[in-house]
Amino acid sequence: MNVLVLNGPNLGRLGVREPDIYGTATYGDLVARCAEVAEETGLDVEVRQTDTESEMIGWLHDAADSGASVILNAGAWTHTSVAVRDAASQLAGPLVEVHLSNVYARETFRHKSYLSDIAVAVVVGMGLEGYAAALRFLKQS
Ligand code: DQA
Repeated sequence: MNVLVLNGPNLGRLGVREPDIYGTATYGDLVARCAEVAEETGLDVEVRQTDTESEMIGWLHDAADSGASVILNAGAWTHTSVAVRDAASQLAGPLVEVHLSNVYARETFRHKSYLSDIAVAVVVGMGLEGYAAALRFLKQS
């Protein structure tokens, strides 16, 4: 099974970005953790990050056309972007929404997600292990 792990804005700055909220693990650590679980599960996993909304939408269109499963941490676009939601709505494979932090324990503007109701599962507050959990979930589903 092909799984795309797509990360949105500011996630490339993990490790230096607000470590009190996001921890000290870097984006490289995130990629490495996904690679470990890919090895463990036999899933074909590709991890990407972009700060550009049009690039993210293009990746979601490609995933819709290929039928890939998607693990999406859309970062701030989660709470703002109807365009990312509309692109994610076209996916044929399952969508899992992931957030490193527990968005429900943070500012109220982070409690609204344009993605949760079109996702098969939502993982929040587990840091990098949320990605591992999402990959294992997709493996068994
Ligand atoms: C985030 C939570 C979002 O509210 C925030 O804008 C992010 C990261 C998370 O992984 O916890 O950029 O998606």
